[in-house]
Amino acid sequence: MSASIQKLKKMSTFALRGLKRSFLSRSFSFTQYRLIRNTIKDILKCKQSDATVNATGWVKTLQVHKNVTFIKVNDGSSLSSLQVIIPPELNNNEITFGSSVSVEGKMIESPGQGQDYELLAEKISVCGTCNPEEFPFQSRNKIPVEYVRDYLHLRPRTNFFSSLLRLRNATTNAIHKYFQENDFLFIHTPILTSNDCEGGGEVFSVEPHNKDLIPELSDSEEENKTPKLFFRNPANLTVSGQLHLEIITGAISRCYNFGPTFRADMSVDRTHLAEFYMVEAEMAFTKSLEDVLEVIESLVKFTIRELQNTCDDDLQFYYKYVAPKDQQKTVQTALDKAFTRIPYTDAVKILEKKNKKFEFKIRWGEDLKREHERYLVKYNNDIPVFVTDFPAAIKPFYARDNDDTQTVSSVDLLVPEVGELVGGTMREERYDVLKNKLQQHELLENLNWYLDLRKFGSVPHGGFGLGFERMLQFILGINNIRDTIPFPRSSKHCKL
Ligand code: 4AD
Ligand code: MG
Repeated sequence: MSASIQKLKKMSTFALRGLKRSFLSRSFSFTQYRLIRNTIKDILKCKQSDATVNATGWVKTLQVHKNVTFIKVNDGSSLSSLQVIIPPELNNNEITFGSSVSVEGKMIESPGQGQDYELLAEKISVCGTCNPEEFPFQSRNKIPVEYVRDYLHLRPRTNFFSSLLRLRNATTNAIHKYFQENDFLFIHTPILTSNDCEGGGEVFSVEPHNKDLIPELSDSEEENKTPKLFFRNPANLTVSGQLHLEIITGAISRCYNFGPTFRADMSVDRTHLAEFYMVEAEMAFTKSLEDVLEVIESLVKFTIRELQNTCDDDLQFYYKYVAPKDQQKTVQTALDKAFTRIPYTDAVKILEKKNKKFEFKIRWGEDLKREHERYLVKYNNDIPVFVTDFPAAIKPFYARDNDDTQTVSSVDLLVPEVGELVGGTMREERYDVLKNKLQQHELLENLNWYLDLRKFGSVPHGGFGLGFERMLQFILGINNIRDTIPFPRSSKHCKL
């Protein structure tokens, strides 16, 4: 008895110590954070004269006057920079555009325009110097994006790119928030996979570079003529996590992923990357394709609204300095108007009338090219368009047949300038129909498991994939997709 009481006492002392430790460390790191590691974003909220502040960041502008020097310091936490006043005795010629500094001083009310408060430096140290003659970017100059792209390792130091990174982060949050608020479960679908979901043959294969790392075949593997590959079957980088999401949606009726996607796409144009992020959602018990369209439309609108609410200063920066003139209006139109629905067959009729002006003449049965997609949206007064029910032959094997058997229950969402932003379908949930399709595409052997999903409690289901970078292109009016992602990869380009 006494032994167990002692044990209990020991345990509670231990627990108490643990509690104290965690409390102390929490309060310590909190204090430390406040005193030493305030971000510029935090400091800019300070509306108190004489508050002692330590600001760290990179010098964005520098104005040297006879009696005083003004610098703007930014650490990437916000679009706005902190104005710092440097008295002549503290100034030194290592404080240049691009150098990194740590400033201690007091906040004072600012007599100048552009800020309510500024920091009067009492101590300033240069952490890293930056020779402006060698630094590829110059203060205040509007630098062409193509030039900046040549310096991927320094690109985040430009205002337009650090702003992009904050907007990218806010868009990511918005997308997760939308799905979380609507009971979709986030699923980590794999990056390495044995399938080519889209059947387009645009996969990158994965094998170890060092062949010694491939395990030897066992006797039975030799007998079965198993290929001597690392995984024993060919493996690729994923082109879409859809088939994996379909597995999940057989048990969890709403799920989504949001991860890197890879396509060995030859087209080096302004909307294609070899590595991009795709947001995919899958829903079970759908009544019709209309359910899928509703989720796509509300996701796109929710994301725009969230960005306006959470990151408006960066958004406005893009509309002022980067995007084409009417971009904000175009995005507002997408927010305010109901997206238009038009079957592929009707869309082709509209396009055929304009065939003379297209480089590629469209006929029923052919896929829409970028010029057709853009025309359809323009024709629709810049309101995004859902083109539905494409010919079966131009959509992948998994798309559900419509009753006419010529078309499938499918959709592409087209948005101004970018063209296709989202692709989705109802999935073929009928065992026999799917089996036939798999046979036609010679996929039955590889995708037997996929057919199996239709054997055990199959349900009508559908989903879509949204190109994250194209979404940024559309909302921010970015001409080239390579300026929406920190490290762009496309045919002939894989730097860093
Ligand atoms: O239309 P896609 O190929 O659809 C699928 O992969 C489906 N399996 C998705 C699903 O239903 N779960 O691709 C979806 C979207 C496109 O609409 C486009 O926005 C984007 O992904 N996308 C690309 N973005 C950048 N670069 C590329 N090479 C892209 N390929 C597709
Ligand atoms: Mg597509």
